[in-house]
Amino acid sequence: MKVIFSLFFSSIFLMAGAQQISIIPKPVKATPQPGNFVITNSTIIFVDGKDEKKSADFFNDYLENFYGFRLKTGKKTLNNCISFSTKHSTDASIKGHYTMRVSPASISIIGNDDEGTFYGAQTLTQLLPVEKSTSLRIPSVQIDDYPRFKYRGLMLDAGRHFMPADFVKKYIDYIALHKMNYFHWHLTEDQGWRIEIKKYPKLTEMGSCRNGTIIGHHPGTGNDNEKNCGFYTQEQIKEIVKYASDRYITVIPEIEMPGHSSAAIAAYPQLSCFPDEPTKIAKGVQWNGDSTGKQVQQSWGIYEDVYCPSEFTFKFIEDVMDEVMQLFPSEYIHVGGDECPKSNWKRSEFCQNLIKEKGLKDEEGLQSYFIQRVEKYLNSKGRKIIGWDEILEGGIAPNATIMSWRGEKGGIDAANQHHDVMMTPGDYVYFDHSQSKNEDSLTIGGYLPLETVYNYNPFPPGLAEENQKYILGAQANMWTEYMSNPRKVEYMLFPRLSALSEVLWSAKEDKNFNEFLLRMKMQYQRYILWKVNYNVIGIHKGE
Ligand code: ACM
Repeated sequence: MKVIFSLFFSSIFLMAGAQQISIIPKPVKATPQPGNFVITNSTIIFVDGKDEKKSADFFNDYLENFYGFRLKTGKKTLNNCISFSTKHSTDASIKGHYTMRVSPASISIIGNDDEGTFYGAQTLTQLLPVEKSTSLRIPSVQIDDYPRFKYRGLMLDAGRHFMPADFVKKYIDYIALHKMNYFHWHLTEDQGWRIEIKKYPKLTEMGSCRNGTIIGHHPGTGNDNEKNCGFYTQEQIKEIVKYASDRYITVIPEIEMPGHSSAAIAAYPQLSCFPDEPTKIAKGVQWNGDSTGKQVQQSWGIYEDVYCPSEFTFKFIEDVMDEVMQLFPSEYIHVGGDECPKSNWKRSEFCQNLIKEKGLKDEEGLQSYFIQRVEKYLNSKGRKIIGWDEILEGGIAPNATIMSWRGEKGGIDAANQHHDVMMTPGDYVYFDHSQSKNEDSLTIGGYLPLETVYNYNPFPPGLAEENQKYILGAQANMWTEYMSNPRKVEYMLFPRLSALSEVLWSAKEDKNFNEFLLRMKMQYQRYILWKVNYNVIGIHKGE
């Protein structure tokens, strides 16, 4: 009788738990327990040290922003206490492991490391009810949780459309709320240079503005004829890097080379092999303003005027990188390397002589020489480069990490050559693609529904198991040609970011799209709480 009684109750509690516990990304193990803890303004937060305070502060800020009150910190008590502590164990194979116990008397979060404690705090935000109240019921539960991949990234292209610093911070919060840990910041493009470099002031004086932007899809149906400008000061960047670091997020800056560099060339024409030639305007593009000399591009696409592999250019890049390294403590610096047409190098006498002098095979060999030189410089300063998969062509730089974007092949090739890889294949994680077939806003096209993101496996098929260890994780890319403002970025981001977080964090065996959609019901309520502009696609599927 006793057994039946307890079975009966535990199934009730599991049911109750299943309704209340709706964590994204799904934890490795969450076992509902009887009862609830209730947070009121008399609940005390206990922190074990300085780093735990970061996690507690994040939680307290969350409470204040979305529920209107903060908790006091104080001594650990047996009752009515939320404690944050960290074991600081050094033997962890992956950072971010935590355990959490919610009982009617207390909540205890114990990280194996500081990241783990922080992720425990994230889970706690998701145990809160979504209704605002001064008395918040948290279901009792026991959680043991850690991430599947160590690289869990999200990129933002601030080149095509500048995104204000305050929004960049919000974007970093969205990354944190999904237990992700890398923010890849694409800072230079044909259409705008976005980072202040003190030694080269024209980069932002001239390179951060374009005189207009096409209307509609490239080449456009017209031009908005409006000046479009923006860059981040070094002070803003420092603040953003610190903001991210407080959330255990590393900011990886991307300084593109040798292609996608029209804005830098507009500021310093000597960076081109043909400094006296005016910028070519793509066919069909309606241009606004001056079209003489070098110009910042007003439409999207790929442009032929790329960096010349000259000593002037290498000195420029080293100077820029010196300032970049001062601002970004990240071990990784992204050097781009994608979509660099070789036509200018082919017709440049200087380049052809350089190919001969260095004994290179062709222009792809020249690109490899270019990237390897920059790698050598950055390695000498203790940094590592990341490049898009084109840097495999002509021979990969010896220590480079590859971002595989043109499908999965680049990732497979790099891993087979024992290079680290982040997977960002267009068909699965390009968040600029449309989320529905009947998308009615302007996007670059494509079709990337929530389910496709959810079912993505960063281990590419065909990669030998012993080389899977080179796949560090994956990242979604947010290219902003067709996103002129933060609200549009949010619309493209949500709900796909939530699916991506589960790809990166949750155990593969546990994944089930329909069950995910059930948990998404609560996540949509959180989006409303956060006041984000989400796409409603998928909302009704889980009914
Ligand atoms: C890319 O999407 N061009 C990396």
